[in-house]
Amino acid sequence: MNYHDLSKKELESLHASLSEQFERIKSERLSLDLTRGKPGADQLDLSNDLDGILNGFYLLQDGTDVRNYGGILGIPEAREFGAELLGSTPDEVMVGGNSSLTLMYLFLRMMMELWQSAEQQPRFLCPVPGYDRHFAICEEFGIDMVTVPMTDTGPDMDIVERLVHEDTSIKGIWCVPRYSNPTGCTYSDEVVDRMSRLPQHAGDDFVIMWDNAYIAHHLAETPDPLKSIMACCRETDTTKNLVILASTSKITFAGAGISFLATAREQLAQFEKYLGIAMIGFDKVNQLRHLRFLEDQAGLAAHMEKHRQILAPKFKSVLSILETELGGTGIARWTKPNGGYFVSLDTMPGLASNVIGMAADAGVKLTPAGATFPYGRDPENSNIRIAPTYPPVEQLNKAMSVLVLCIQLCSAAQLTKA
Ligand SMILES: Cc1ncc(COP(=O)(O)O)c(C=O)c1O
Repeated sequence: MNYHDLSKKELESLHASLSEQFERIKSERLSLDLTRGKPGADQLDLSNDLDGILNGFYLLQDGTDVRNYGGILGIPEAREFGAELLGSTPDEVMVGGNSSLTLMYLFLRMMMELWQSAEQQPRFLCPVPGYDRHFAICEEFGIDMVTVPMTDTGPDMDIVERLVHEDTSIKGIWCVPRYSNPTGCTYSDEVVDRMSRLPQHAGDDFVIMWDNAYIAHHLAETPDPLKSIMACCRETDTTKNLVILASTSKITFAGAGISFLATAREQLAQFEKYLGIAMIGFDKVNQLRHLRFLEDQAGLAAHMEKHRQILAPKFKSVLSILETELGGTGIARWTKPNGGYFVSLDTMPGLASNVIGMAADAGVKLTPAGATFPYGRDPENSNIRIAPTYPPVEQLNKAMSVLVLCIQLCSAAQLTKA
């Protein structure tokens, strides 16, 4: 049933019956949460063997005692693992603490000193919808954010290239190239190619923040292919403008994983020096534990398959509820990701905040409207980020049934008024 084909009378009677359903659900006094893009306890349990895995052996092959100070760049075994994961070489990789976000923050903090010395107000390209914490870093540093629409194959590169050509104050771009947060899209080969050429126009101090947070987080049996940007940047001689990031936050323990950063050697040396003022080294015991646990890329893939077994049914359930309740109605569209942690849904323009408010009244917490846009402002007020990973399936299904009801109700109300 397409809502747009209904007469005013039909819409009014639909609205009345949806309102009754809503009042019934409200009386259930639910308390459910669809905001948390974090692993469920069953996923964390997959990595419990990290605990105690070293069994008293703290020495590396070269004799380094990982319990002691030192080594900001990380232990060699972990740098090698990171290099294979990110498509780089060990001497271009740093292995950090439990948060890649911290590495992003600190790297940009270092770049700010350079940009500020050029006395230009830096601007950043932000594909939208995107990751709120990227935007928060820019806001914190006073970097102006310029939005670029996302397509199914990555940011709209015609717009990206035009902006970079026109505006020399644009100093970088945020990218989540595989299973993007929140749309789930993976960048096409063409987008990766064009991205790697951007610094040729933008200048030496331009930085591509390639946040590959969902690099190994597949939901489909066949992963989305992603071209190696490091290889492309080698060809265009732009590796110094590239910063690749990833972490094991959603592989092992979200609060106790390890992170990776890859860039050209000279940039890495500068970053090492910069960090050296604030620290003597990251947690090398945890790096060694991770290497013993994951071992290599095959070990990682086998481990991620266990996550997939847990997560794929949750995403399937979410998509099936969306299709059953909203398919063909013309009042919402949503993504069907092959990996990552989110489903991105768009209501009719102007309705997202009402839907989210109404769901809250019925005891279902959703990510605030606008969170996926810089400054928290979604110009269409239509995007809602759904995070299916954390709640158990029954709670997830219940929360989804409330969400779709709120979308139906708000849409019927809006169309009745039109
Ligand atoms: C795109 C993206 N980058 C980074 C992070 C956080 O990474 P970390 O836990 O390594 O700081 C997240 C977490 O949701 C994310 O979605």
